[in-house]
Formats: sequence, C-alpha cells, structure tokens
Amino acid sequence: MKTLTAIFFLCAISIAILYSQETKKEEKKEISLSKDLMPIINKRCIKCHQPDSDGDNGYMMDTYENIVKGGKYKKAVVVGKSEESYLITKLLPNPPKGKQMPLFSKKKLTEDEVNLFKQWINEGAKDN
Ligand code: HEC
Repeated sequence: MKTLTAIFFLCAISIAILYSQETKKEEKKEISLSKDLMPIINKRCIKCHQPDSDGDNGYMMDTYENIVKGGKYKKAVVVGKSEESYLITKLLPNPPKGKQMPLFSKKKLTEDEVNLFKQWINEGAKDN
C-alpha cells in the first residue's frame, strides 16, 4: 500500500510540474511600441503622418506623445480601451469620418497587425 501511495504522489507531482511549465509557455509577451508597432508605423503611416505633411488632420505619429494625442478630429488613444480608441476605428473598414487607414493603399493592415495595436492600447498604451 505504501508503494502505491508513493507512486500516486510521484504522478501528482510530475503532472503539477508539467502543467506549470505549460502555462509559462502560454504567457503572452507584452507589446512594445518601439519594437512591435514603430516598424509598422514607419512603413505604413509615417510618410503622411509627420510634422511637415499636409491634410492628415494634423495627426503626427513620430513620437509617443503625438501617437496618443491624435489629430484635430479626435484623441487617438483611450488608454486601456482599444474599442474606444479612434486609432483602431481608423484601421478598420468604414470609420465614422474619413477613410480607412492607411489611406490610398489597397493593402490595409492585417488582422494580426491591428491586434498588435489593440493589445498595446489594452495593456496601457505605454511608452515602451
Ligand atoms: C497616404 C497618406 C496616409 C497614410 C499612408 C496614412 N494616413 Fe492616416 N490620414 C491621412 C489623411 C489625409 C487623414 C485625414 C482624413 C481622414 O481621416 O480620412 C488621416 C487621418 C488619420 C487619423 C485620424 C486623425 C484625426 O484626428 O482625424 C488616424 C487615427 C490615422 N490617419 C491613422 C493612420 C495610421 C495608423 C496609418 C498607418 C497604418 C495611416 N494613418 C496611414 C493620410 C494617411
């Protein structure tokens, strides 16, 4: 009987160890503005959204402060709430005002790319 109990505990312990390793692997990494989003912004947005470009409703995407602040029409980022953030609204089809971004480009952002922006906002829109 003693050996049976010992085997039972051994099994329980190994399952617990395996499980903890599994959950560690699944932990999501935090989205970084500079590492994950700036490469997309520099490639797809910045040419129109910088200080010396006209007609972009004054929305500059060159610095963290400007990205969060937004343009003339609306604040771009509501910290923690991607569903209320105009930046996300403008990346999806049929925004309430103007056109879906990036303007004039047939290739819009992929769902995964939009999700990176969403996750960054939901994680507190940090200057990271
Ligand atoms: C070819 C130029 C161009 C590109 C590229 C572009 N935009 Fe724009 N953007 C504009 C113009 C022009 C406006 C104003 C008209 C409108 O809202 O449709 C605008 C408006 C916006 C606004 C709303 C600002 C406000 O307060 O009205 C957001 C947010 C925005 N763009 C985000 C982006 C993002 C994010 C990207 C890259 C994925 C991007 N744009 C790429 C030209 C561009």
